[in-house]
Amino acid sequence: MCGIVGYIGNRNAYDVLIQGLKRLEYRGYDSAGIALEGFDGQLRVYKAKGKVSDLEKAVEGKDVTGTLGIAHTRWATHGVPNNVNAHPHLSQSGSIAIVHNGTIENYGVLKEALIREGYTFKSETDTEVLVQLIEYVKVKNKCGLFDAVREALHQIEGAYAIAVIERDDPDTIVVARKSSPLVIGVGENETMLASDATPIVGLMDKVVYLKDDEMAVIRRDKPLQVLSLETNHPSDFDIQTLKMSVAELEKGGYETFMLKEIFEQPDRLRDCVRGRILDDGAQVVLSGVRDNRKRFLEANRVVIVACGTSWHAALIGKHIIQDMCKLPVEVEYASEFRYSGPIITDKDIVIAISQSGETADTLAAIQLAKNKGAFVYGICNVVGASIPRNTDSGTYIHVGPEIGVASTKAFTGQVTVLTLLALCAGQIRGTVDEEKVRMVGQALMQMPETVKEVLKLDGQIQQLARTFTYAHNFLYLGRGYNYPTALEGALKLKEISYIHAEGYPAAEMKHGPIALIDSEMPTVVIAPTDSLYDKIVNNVQQVKSRGGAVIAIVNKGNASMQDMADYCLEIPEVPECLTPIVASVPLQLLAYYIAKYKGRNVDQPRNLAKSVTVE
Ligand code: F6R
Repeated sequence: MCGIVGYIGNRNAYDVLIQGLKRLEYRGYDSAGIALEGFDGQLRVYKAKGKVSDLEKAVEGKDVTGTLGIAHTRWATHGVPNNVNAHPHLSQSGSIAIVHNGTIENYGVLKEALIREGYTFKSETDTEVLVQLIEYVKVKNKCGLFDAVREALHQIEGAYAIAVIERDDPDTIVVARKSSPLVIGVGENETMLASDATPIVGLMDKVVYLKDDEMAVIRRDKPLQVLSLETNHPSDFDIQTLKMSVAELEKGGYETFMLKEIFEQPDRLRDCVRGRILDDGAQVVLSGVRDNRKRFLEANRVVIVACGTSWHAALIGKHIIQDMCKLPVEVEYASEFRYSGPIITDKDIVIAISQSGETADTLAAIQLAKNKGAFVYGICNVVGASIPRNTDSGTYIHVGPEIGVASTKAFTGQVTVLTLLALCAGQIRGTVDEEKVRMVGQALMQMPETVKEVLKLDGQIQQLARTFTYAHNFLYLGRGYNYPTALEGALKLKEISYIHAEGYPAAEMKHGPIALIDSEMPTVVIAPTDSLYDKIVNNVQQVKSRGGAVIAIVNKGNASMQDMADYCLEIPEVPECLTPIVASVPLQLLAYYIAKYKGRNVDQPRNLAKSVTVE
C-alpha cells in the first residue's frame, strides 16, 4: 500500500528511484512521483497519474540530474488518484518535500489548525498536512529539519513511513516509521531507503530494518544515525545482509510475474520444506515449534488470524492442526478479530499468517493477542517484515518475493508450513503416529514433482479458459479440506478477471446458491477421491440436472466423473490434507488465462495492492 524510496550517493538518483519504484509498484500503482534535490533554488518535483511508466513519459525532456531524491508509488486512501494528490508533497514555501506510506488519522484537525495559521492546501491528502506541519514547526521553533520532523510526528496519530528532504540541504534525508515498514540500504558512500528491500537488491547488500517509533538521519558521506522518536537517544541497529537476488525480482522470461510465480511453485515448495523434514519423512522439525515445546504441549486452543488468501490457508490449517494435534482451532479474519470481543488467554496459541508480514489488520490482531498473554506464532514470507518482528516465534515460508498482486506460491507455501507445523506439534504432543507423519512428510518431499505434473495441465486449461471467458458468474464448490480451496479459486478469478465468483461448501449449495445455476453459470468442483468424494458426486449431479456446466478437478483415472462433468482436470493423488496444494494450482491457471483473455492487467489488477498496510 504505497511504496516509498529514496537515494543519496554518487549515482544518478532519478535512475535509482525509477528502478526502485518499478520494484515497489506492486504496492500501489495509481500514481507516482519523484522529488530531486534543489536546483536553481527549487526542489524538482515530477508526478503523473497512472503507472511508473506514465511518470517516465511525463518526465521526458525534463532535468533529472542530481544525486539525492525521494519517490513514491501510490495506492489512494485520501483523495482520488490524480497529479495533485500524487506524492511527493511540498510544503507551502516549496522548501520541504515528503513521501509517505500510511494514514494520518487526525489530519482533519491539524489541517484546520494550519489553515487558521494561513496555510493553504492543494491536495486532498493527509500527507500534505504533515509536510505543512513540519514547515510550520520548523519556522516557529527556528529549528533544523530533523527536529521539525520529530516534533511534527509527536502531533500525528496514525501510521507512517516517511522520507523528507529540504531544498536548502542537498545532503540529508530524514526518515521515520510507525506501523509502516521502512528499510535502509547501506552502501559504500551511498544510502537508500525503501518500503521493502526489493529496490535495494543489486545495488547494496547491507540493510537496516528500521523499528517502529524510530527515525534516521541519512547524510551524504556520513554514518547512518538511528534515533528513538520518543527519547531522541541513539538506537542500536543491526546491519543485516540481504539474501535476495535480482533474478528473483524479474519475470525470468514469463509474460507476467503471476505466471512465473505459478510455474516456480515446484522449486519454491522445495525451498519451503528444505531441512525441515528428516529421517525419510518420519521427523518434522520446525525450530519455532520445537523451541517452544512447552507452549505447544500445554496449549488449550489455537486461534488463527489472517486476511484474504492467507485466511483461506488458515481454514485449511484448522483441519490439519485439529487432525494432527487434537487441539480445537478457530479461524478469524484479522480485520474482525479485535472487534468481536475475543476471549484469549495465556493458554492460547495465536497463529498469524501473512505473505507480506505488513498487513495492518493482522498486526493489530497480533498486538491484541499479545496483550492478552497468548503465545503468538507468525507464518510469513517477507524476511524482516513487521509480523515476524512482532511475534513470539514463527516460521518463514521461504517462497521468494511474490510480486504479482494475486497470491499463488505464497498460498501453497502457507499450506505447506501449516502442515509442517501440525506434524511437528503433533509429534511433540504425541497425537500423531509415526506412520502418518512419514506418509505426509514423504508426500511433501515429493510435492515439487507432483506440482510439476499438475503444471502440465497448462495447455488444457488455456483451452478451457477460452471456452469460459464469456461467463459473468462462476461458482466454486469443495468440501472438507477443499472448501477453502474453492474459496481461494473464486478469489483468484474475481480479483484478476473481475468476474463475479463465489466459493461455497458444496453441500451448502442446496441452501440457496443452487437458485443461480443455469446454462450461463459454470461451476468448478474440487472433487479428489477423498473421504467426501461420494457426497460431492451428488452435488455435481444437482448442478448438471439444472443445466449448469461443470468443470471438475479430479484424481487421475477417475472415469465416473468423466461421464458426469463437462470438463475434467486430472491431478495426482496425494494424502487428503495435501489436496488443497495440488488442486489450487489448476485454479490459479484457470483464473490466470481467463483474465489474460479478457485483456486484464494480471499483475496489477484494478483497485488492489499487494501489501495492505491500512485498516
Ligand atoms: C489475494 C491476496 C490477498 C492477501 C491479503 C493478505 O490474492 O493476495 O487477499 O492474501 O491481502 O495479505 P498478507 O498475506 O500479506 O497478509
